[in-house]
Amino acid sequence: MTEKREYTDDYPEKTLYLPGPTEVREDVIEAMAEPMFGHRMDRMTDLYTTIVEDTKEFLDTDQDVIVLTASGTEFWEATTLNLVDDRMLVPTSGAFSERQANVAERLGKTVDRLEYEWGNAVKPEDVREALEASDEGYDAVGMVMNETSTGVRNPVEEVGDLLGEYPDTYFVVDAISCLGGDYIVPEEHNIDALFTSSQKAFAMPPGLAITTVSDDAYERELEKDSASWYGGFQRCLDYYDRKGQTHSTPAIPLMLAYRKQMKHMLEEGHEARDQRHREMAEYTREWAREHFGLYAEEGYRSQTVTAVENTQGIDVAATIEDVSEQYDLVFSNGYGSIGEETFRIGHMGEHTVETVKELTDAIEDVAGL
Ligand SMILES: Cc1ncc(COP(=O)(O)O)c(C=O)c1O
Repeated sequence: MTEKREYTDDYPEKTLYLPGPTEVREDVIEAMAEPMFGHRMDRMTDLYTTIVEDTKEFLDTDQDVIVLTASGTEFWEATTLNLVDDRMLVPTSGAFSERQANVAERLGKTVDRLEYEWGNAVKPEDVREALEASDEGYDAVGMVMNETSTGVRNPVEEVGDLLGEYPDTYFVVDAISCLGGDYIVPEEHNIDALFTSSQKAFAMPPGLAITTVSDDAYERELEKDSASWYGGFQRCLDYYDRKGQTHSTPAIPLMLAYRKQMKHMLEEGHEARDQRHREMAEYTREWAREHFGLYAEEGYRSQTVTAVENTQGIDVAATIEDVSEQYDLVFSNGYGSIGEETFRIGHMGEHTVETVKELTDAIEDVAGL
């Protein structure tokens, strides 16, 4: 049993290179410190319509956008409940895609997995084969764009393009650990719901989940008992349409932070952010190649999270601890069973090549590379 560990007011400040939560700008943190206001006041309409419309502008999308008080996991459940009557195809290539499949099973759906070894990427031709081999077809394909456990960036664009030939199959994309640091426009690739969490490449505090919703997905959501109440597309979007607010009380301070950060994101722009993240990823991969290896399949490597293969057999846990102690920089071990075989560097959000270099210098120093 976990014992209580009293929270104190005294923790050293650490710089986060985790695959989320990541660094948040000072003015974004400060934006949360406002006197409270009511979620049915006009001020809330100003706030919520601003963050929704700014998000659409940032993502260059004409799809609807929902910003919900929840972590991104909520949209695994809601997209399944809203779009899947019975059958779903989920390519699994790591811990998060496996969890997406598991969520749908728990909701009573029939899930066919397309299984890949960890480190490998989903291949569009396999998805096509699975679709062709299925007599009944699928209500939806669910995919993780950026497998945070392995550092794989899956080719969701190509899968979406081929799904154009299957108009009855909806396409649900978990872009949780990359959206905002990796350019994608949902309607260009037949994506019906593209979702993320605020604490990843949007570089905001955790606690908000964001999704785009296609017109088809809005129409498809069945007004019956099995659609999600909390994450129902129609409920959320109709409320927005009528009142410019959320259907239940949102985390107002987080939305104040969101507003501030989304303005910064708009100033930089989706494409420029993509370019900055590409440069960070290239730098990190180069460094990993020089000292270690790369876990993810060549050609499918993430722009926001690099899983470094621990070819030198360093003590990953001890190195993380020492880098944190000596430099106040925090990176991540490998996920689950590959905890010592790999370690992960989150180069997302506010980071730059220069700040990532500070971390890699510290790792070199501590690990004696
Ligand atoms: C790819 C992916 N999906 C889902 C999640 C779950 O996100 P959250 O904890 O915000 O619900 C994560 C978290 O790391 C993730 O990386």
